[in-house]
Amino acid sequence: GSIGQAEGDLVGLRVLVTAGGTREPIDPVRYLGNRSSGKQGVAVALAAADRGAKVVLLAANIDDAVLSEVAHRAEVRVVPVGTTAELESAAHAASAGAEAVIMAAAVADYRVADVADQKIRKEDAPGEAPTLTLVENPDILVGLVRDRRPGQVIVGFAAETVSTEEELLERGRRKLLRKGVDLLALNAVGWSEGFESGDNDVRVLDADGTVVSSVSGTKREVAERLLDAVRHELDAAAR
Ligand code: CTP
Ligand code: CA
Repeated sequence: GSIGQAEGDLVGLRVLVTAGGTREPIDPVRYLGNRSSGKQGVAVALAAADRGAKVVLLAANIDDAVLSEVAHRAEVRVVPVGTTAELESAAHAASAGAEAVIMAAAVADYRVADVADQKIRKEDAPGEAPTLTLVENPDILVGLVRDRRPGQVIVGFAAETVSTEEELLERGRRKLLRKGVDLLALNAVGWSEGFESGDNDVRVLDADGTVVSSVSGTKREVAERLLDAVRHELDAAAR
């Protein structure tokens, strides 16, 4: 595009993207986390910016090497977060000013009930493995749907370990209903599929559970097709 003149089908839109994986502290040196690299969410943020949107990217523990793709972009405001509680408050604050919310972050489902303020040391309890008591975290996405702006389009992500395509879609449809989102980006994961990779294989479901897009390609390609679906939902909400 020409300098200083935004173009694209998302011009004038503010998009909130969450990406990466939240971490829950155990003690000052340890945490519970997950394998999300943040690459898919960063690809969505970049694609949205390229299509003219103003983007807030809530980045949960994403490597600088991954974040460097968007770090230099004036249209993308990157806000680092660590825990689920931090992501939740940042997401509610940013969602109030966004027409579309894309919740690609992998949220830790549980946090440690009593975080130790000193390192847990073997010396303090020789031969005894500690037991961690966990408490369930709030569902951020459900809260965002509950507090949504009129016409706001909200997208969830689900990565499922499944044995068949049928099971993937069935689990996706149940999750979609439970969350009340407009779109769900669904993919299969396992020990060796779905993480860290540059590629992804995604089904996009709409609120009826219909597969509106099926993309196997780079995370950028997946991001573009997902944003097509978001654009379509925004248009439908405006009618
Ligand atoms: N999510 C969230 N808050 C949570 C858990 C999940 O906002 N506490 C969001 C994720 O960011 C994602 C969607 O909900 O967009 C689905 O996440 P997933 O982990 O698949 O859903 P869960 O309800 O946690 O179900 P599961 O037991 O399968 O992990
Ligand atoms: Ca979960």
